[in-house]
Amino acid sequence: MAMGLFAFILYATWATFQNSHYYAAPYLSPFYSPCVSANCTYQTAPLVGSWWKVSPALAVVWIPLGFRTSCYYFRRVYYRSFWLSPPACAVADARPRYSGESRLPLILNNVHRYFFYLAFALAIVDSWDAVAAFDFSGHFGIGLGSLIMLTDAVLLWSYTLGCHSCRHLVGGRLKLLSAHRIRYRLWKGSSVLNRHHGLFGWTSLGWVGFTDLYVRLVSTGVITDPRWVLH
Ligand code: FES
Repeated sequence: MAMGLFAFILYATWATFQNSHYYAAPYLSPFYSPCVSANCTYQTAPLVGSWWKVSPALAVVWIPLGFRTSCYYFRRVYYRSFWLSPPACAVADARPRYSGESRLPLILNNVHRYFFYLAFALAIVDSWDAVAAFDFSGHFGIGLGSLIMLTDAVLLWSYTLGCHSCRHLVGGRLKLLSAHRIRYRLWKGSSVLNRHHGLFGWTSLGWVGFTDLYVRLVSTGVITDPRWVLH
């Protein structure tokens, strides 16, 4: 798991700072979405002016970064694999003193629910990108990239809606949850996804990197996107 995380961090950092080849019409890399600065190759919304000179990915990448690093599942992964606190169940911590999440820096992980709100908005944008991936200059079409973008959106929703904060949001603070039928159903749906939260965490993480790589390879002309377009 440490190797998996390390490999992703390396690739994501490299891709974030590339500031090129993140768009191959109609596909926008999820690392750069929403593209909000004036220096975007393909702008989703003009929110940041021309004063932004660095990579557009830096304007948004902190949202998924904060969401994933404060995720309850990924906390377990990196506490065990990087911090060795604890290395495993019933195995003593590598450090003699451990203050848990009651002090800095780990207390910052309590912001998770706020990152959930932002990540939810990001998932909506990601879905919009997936829909736009079927629009080939005003004509409906299906490319391999369209299917990759669609899978990326589905995995991201599966991960986001299974979040513990999402479960609490829809089903928490009630004395009798089953008396609230809609919230009860939403909670049950979220709980189904939550049971596989780790699986969706890893698959969505890997797929977002793969989607960026695919867009990059199409944009640089290394591969050609096979597509069928309705004229
Ligand atoms: S607990 Fe994993 S995303 Fe919220």
